[in-house]
Amino acid sequence: MRRELSIVRRVRSRAIGWMGRRYLARVRRNGIDLSRMRSLPESALMPLRRDGLDPVPALADARVSAPISRLDLPFGANAWLVTGHDEAKAVLGRATGFSSDFTHLVGNAGVTDGDNPGGLGFADPPVHTRLRRLLTPEFTMRRLARLTPRIDEIVTEQLDAMARADGPVDLWEAFALPIPSLTICELLGVPYEERDRFQRLSTARFDLVSGALNSLGAITESLSYLLDIVRAQREAPGDGLLGMLIREHGDEISDRELAGLADGVLTGGLETTASMLALGTLLLLRDPDAFAQIRDDDAAVNRFVEESLRYLTVVQLAFPRFATQDLDIAGVRIEQGDIVLVSLSGANRDPALGTAMEGFDPARPPSPHLAFGHGIHRCIGAELARMELRAAYPALVRRFPELRLAVPPGDLSFREVSIVYGVESLPVLVK
Ligand code: HEM
Repeated sequence: MRRELSIVRRVRSRAIGWMGRRYLARVRRNGIDLSRMRSLPESALMPLRRDGLDPVPALADARVSAPISRLDLPFGANAWLVTGHDEAKAVLGRATGFSSDFTHLVGNAGVTDGDNPGGLGFADPPVHTRLRRLLTPEFTMRRLARLTPRIDEIVTEQLDAMARADGPVDLWEAFALPIPSLTICELLGVPYEERDRFQRLSTARFDLVSGALNSLGAITESLSYLLDIVRAQREAPGDGLLGMLIREHGDEISDRELAGLADGVLTGGLETTASMLALGTLLLLRDPDAFAQIRDDDAAVNRFVEESLRYLTVVQLAFPRFATQDLDIAGVRIEQGDIVLVSLSGANRDPALGTAMEGFDPARPPSPHLAFGHGIHRCIGAELARMELRAAYPALVRRFPELRLAVPPGDLSFREVSIVYGVESLPVLVK
């Protein structure tokens, strides 16, 4: 019996290690993208599959039959899929009993401590609490307000460049990626003369055309580049987040930790916001009423942003949580060591949130959606993301009232199996 248990533990630890290795390899290459995980059974990939902008119907079916259901993973790993809104909040909101710590991914299958990307997402209290406390003051509305004029300028510069194009423009490259990339430059306080390089490196991560090796190289380069920036700011702290952290907490945090935090901000804030900008534009092009409301009525902008965050839920799954003790969640027994995957897209379409949640309704009053997660790992950049979206959508439709797709909608290609859902490109005509 004991031998059997130890075999089960070994197999489980191997499975976790294997998943972690695959997951991290993809994180490193293309942001968070699991498209190579073909060997997982279809039922495990289902929460990441979509039909255009909508999750596949099986996700709603899973929620109706059991908002917390067993997930079929290979090698006997015990896993659960959470698709209900209240159940998702119950998991993400538990301060104890679940862990996101990177060490759960460290096993005998090749994941080592050295692979730890740093930052907040893979840390538990007290490390998480300490690092998050350092970052939080930089993300308050008061402190972020300094970025408003610069975000407006960044948006205008991108629109000016788009206006100069003859023929189709790829809105993903010309608008969706540079806005968050340049905003993060501003937030971190990357010096002006360094911005071209920063932007090239940050966008090269998601350059699917140049291939995985190029992206991998860009990430290594961007980490050591961030370390260079951190070291330079130690000498002469600037006005941005890095300079402030060095001024106020310089002796509590190492250069590597600072570079890890900066890299976490870049990873967390770039692809997510870019996907929202691209897919939100697609929603506007699909819905002429919403397009006209955003163009003509400032009051409609906030509703549109909140409803598109909910409806699109670009971060489809929260990071895996590992049960550190036996738990009861909404009447379901989760055992120590089990893996819990929370489907944010499932939770955000739960009828418990309101009526007709499967559909997009730009007039819907803001709902308590989970697009930014919940609990201690809730997105620290949520307000910054909202600032960017609220600035960018109305500016786009006001500048280009004739905006339209340059290809038939059926020709658009979406990411196939990716934690952060998105389009590969978005060809549009602006005049
Ligand atoms: C629309 C855009 C965004 C979406 C949908 C989004 C979504 C999320 C979600 C769902 C989580 C929680 C994941 C989990 O619990 O496993 C998260 C965490 C995080 N996000 Fe965002 N995010 C966005 C923009 C940003 C921005 C602009 C930044 C920073 C500039 C950022 C930085 C982070 C960081 C650092 C974390 C980890 C927080 C922690 O673990 O304490 N995100 N984000």
